[in-house]
Order: sequence, then C-alpha cells, then structure tokens
Amino acid sequence: MRTMSKLPILFFLAFTAGIQAQAIDWPDWAYARYEPISDEDFNIPARSGEPPAYSADGSDVDQPKLALPGTSFSFSDAEVNNFYGPADWYPGDHPEMPELVARGDPERGIRACAFCHFATGQGKTENAHLSGLPVVYVMEQFEAFINGDRSTSDPRKPNTYEMIRISEMMTEEEKLEVAEYYVRVPFRSMVRVVETDMAPQVETLRTQLVVPIEGAPWIALGNKIVEVPENPHATEALRDPRGTFVSYVPIGSVAKGEELVETGGGKTIQCSACHGPGLRGLASVPGIAGRTASYNMRQMWDVKMGTRVSPLMEGVVANLSSEDILNILAYVATLVPHEFSQ
Ligand code: HEC
Ligand code: HEC
Repeated sequence: MRTMSKLPILFFLAFTAGIQAQAIDWPDWAYARYEPISDEDFNIPARSGEPPAYSADGSDVDQPKLALPGTSFSFSDAEVNNFYGPADWYPGDHPEMPELVARGDPERGIRACAFCHFATGQGKTENAHLSGLPVVYVMEQFEAFINGDRSTSDPRKPNTYEMIRISEMMTEEEKLEVAEYYVRVPFRSMVRVVETDMAPQVETLRTQLVVPIEGAPWIALGNKIVEVPENPHATEALRDPRGTFVSYVPIGSVAKGEELVETGGGKTIQCSACHGPGLRGLASVPGIAGRTASYNMRQMWDVKMGTRVSPLMEGVVANLSSEDILNILAYVATLVPHEFSQ
C-alpha cells in the first residue's frame, strides 16, 4: 500500500492535532465521535479499509418487501443492504450506472459506490456528496486519497479508510468512468437549517450515520450542530436516496456565517472568489452550497489539522476558529445548489 510510508507522519500530525483538540474546540459533532480522542486512538494500526466481511446478498426474496413513496419498486431488507448491488429505488433519478457504481466488485472488495453515496451521488452526512462534482476535481481526490494527501483527522472514522482503499484498487479507466458518471447528476437541496437552542440527543449507528435517540428528550444544543435525517428510518433502514436532513444550528449562526462568507470578516477570503457565485462550484473547484454541514466541516477541519492537503484552502481556514467555521457552514447549508430551486 503506497499510503503506508506516509502514515507515521499522518499519525504524528493527527496526534499533535489531538492534543490541540481539547484546547481549540474539536468539532466532534461532524465526526460522530463524542469522546475526546485519546492517545490510544492513534495507536490503532493502520486501518485496512477492508469492508465488513458480511453482506446481505438479496437472497431473502421471500421476506416482506419494503416500500418508499414515489416509486413502484419494493425490496427486501437484504436487497436494500446488498453491498454489491443495493436496491435502486428511483432509476429515473439518474443515468445508467457504470458497473462499479451499481455493483462494485466483490473480488476486490470494492463495495458499490451507490451503497454509500447513492446511485445519484447525493450522499449523506457521514460520507460525501458526489453529484455534479467536476471530473478533474474527482480524479485529483482519488490521487490525494492514494498518495496520503487526504485522510481524516479523527482516526476513529473507518469509512474514510475504506474510501482510501477503494481509490487504491480502482483502475484509471474505472476512475474516469465513475467521475464522468457522477458529474452528470445534478446535486439537489437536502438540508433544512433550523436555528435553535434545543436539539435532539443523538447516537452514532454502526454505519457512522448520526440519528436522534428515539424517545429521548431534547437537550441544550450548545455551540454545536446536530445534523440528522428528517426520516431516520427511511434513510438508514431503507437507504432512501431522496432522504433529506435537518441541521439544528445555534441561534444567530447563519447571519454570522453569511458575514464571513461574503466579506471574509478580516479573517478569511470570500468563498465565492474560488467556489463561484452562490458557491455552486467554478471550473474545477467543487460546489459546496447546500452540502451537509457535517461533511463540509470535516473537510475544512481536516485541512486545518493537516490531514487533507489543500494549498488553496489552508489560507482560508488558518485564522478561523472551530466556531467561525461552524457559523460559515450553517450558512452554506442554507444555500440552494442550483440556479432553479426544486
Ligand atoms: C464505505 C462507504 C463508501 C463507499 C463504498 C465509497 N465511498 Fe467514496 N467516500 C466515502 C467517505 C466516507 C468519503 C469521505 C472521506 C473523507 O474525506 O473523510 C468519501 C469521499 C469520496 C469522494 C470525495 C468527494 C469530495 O467532495 O471530495 C469521492 C470522489 C468518492 N468518495 C468517490 C467514490 C466512488 C467513485 C466510489 C465507488 C467506486 C466510492 N466513493 C465508494 C465512503 C465511501
Ligand atoms: C483561493 C481559493 C479558495 C477560496 C477563497 C475558498 N476555497 Fe474552498 N476550496 C478550494 C479548492 C481548490 C478546493 C478543493 C480542494 C483542493 O483542490 O485543494 C476547496 C475545497 C473546499 C471544501 C471541500 C469540498 C469537498 O467537496 O470536499 C470546502 C468545504 C470548502 N472548500 C469551503 C470553503 C469555504 C467555506 C470558503 C470561504 C470561507 C472557501 N472554501 C474558500 C479553493 C478555495
């Protein structure tokens, strides 16, 4: 594995970051791990990135079928959760999928891209939003995952290691094919932002998705974002690719974020200079409008901690606190990703 050689450096950087974390308000909510990172977390041997050994295979065809609104298809639980060919609820929402997107490759242990990112690339809080990303940018990300320029600053996030391993396994032709596929699917609005001082208590599922604890009373939000599916059952158990999220953000955060995004506030650079009008993306710079605050936060924080190398973004985050970035991303989540809202 080519990343091996760089891992000690990464772990050292991450370790230093871990120490800083207590002092500078580590955004635990974005990584779905709420205990402080301990020294031991950095002693975990390099993650293999191997997918879990089990996979539902769609063989329980006699089991009760699950259903979602707006589609006549119905699937069994095992069909929904098949690593190598998950249910395609809304085939009309996307062009015909390349093999790797639809089914992955069991031989190489590459789970279908659609299993995590959906057939549309819409993605979720715990992974990434691929729809409409520029081809050049996507190809650069595969390269960054492989050469050690992109990893997670929280070593407890297993799916990042799986993404690294998948990047290493794909051929150049496959990378180009999947990149050229996802750029064709438009990204749609998926986050409802609510300013509040109270929010649901949450737990992290095995899949890394953060969901409200059923029946638990709401508690003070504090200086965090709580971002959960609007319909946790449909998003988790049915893998509903049209599922949307609600972001509970601190009162006043959206206006503070807007100020920083629009003017730089003396601390950063106006985002639209590179991410384009409305932050919908410009040339090979990705769109960030309407993406989940959790995903965007992890990216900006990883850049700040040095586990994601981005010369252009380093200057942007250098003087921003965790709270500033939270405010910025609360605002960015309210933006509509397309000129014509749906
Ligand atoms: C186990 C779930 C999983 C699978 C399967 C998976 N990914 Fe990912 N992917 C992730 C996660 C998690 C991230 C975010 C990594 C990070 O930055 O921490 C990611 C990030 C990405 C990114 C970067 C997006 C951005 O905005 O920078 C691309 C591109 C990508 N994946 C493409 C793919 C493709 C293509 C496939 C199929 C060949 C695939 N992924 C399969 C989990 C997955
Ligand atoms: C000087 C140009 C520049 C400015 C200004 C800039 N960005 Fe970026 N940003 C980039 C580039 C380029 C990338 C892609 C990573 C790379 O190639 O280095 C990126 C990536 C990102 C990502 C990760 C996207 C993904 O899909 O993983 C986020 C989130 C982000 N920027 C947020 C912001 C915010 C918020 C601002 C304003 C406060 C901002 N950026 C200002 C150039 C810029």
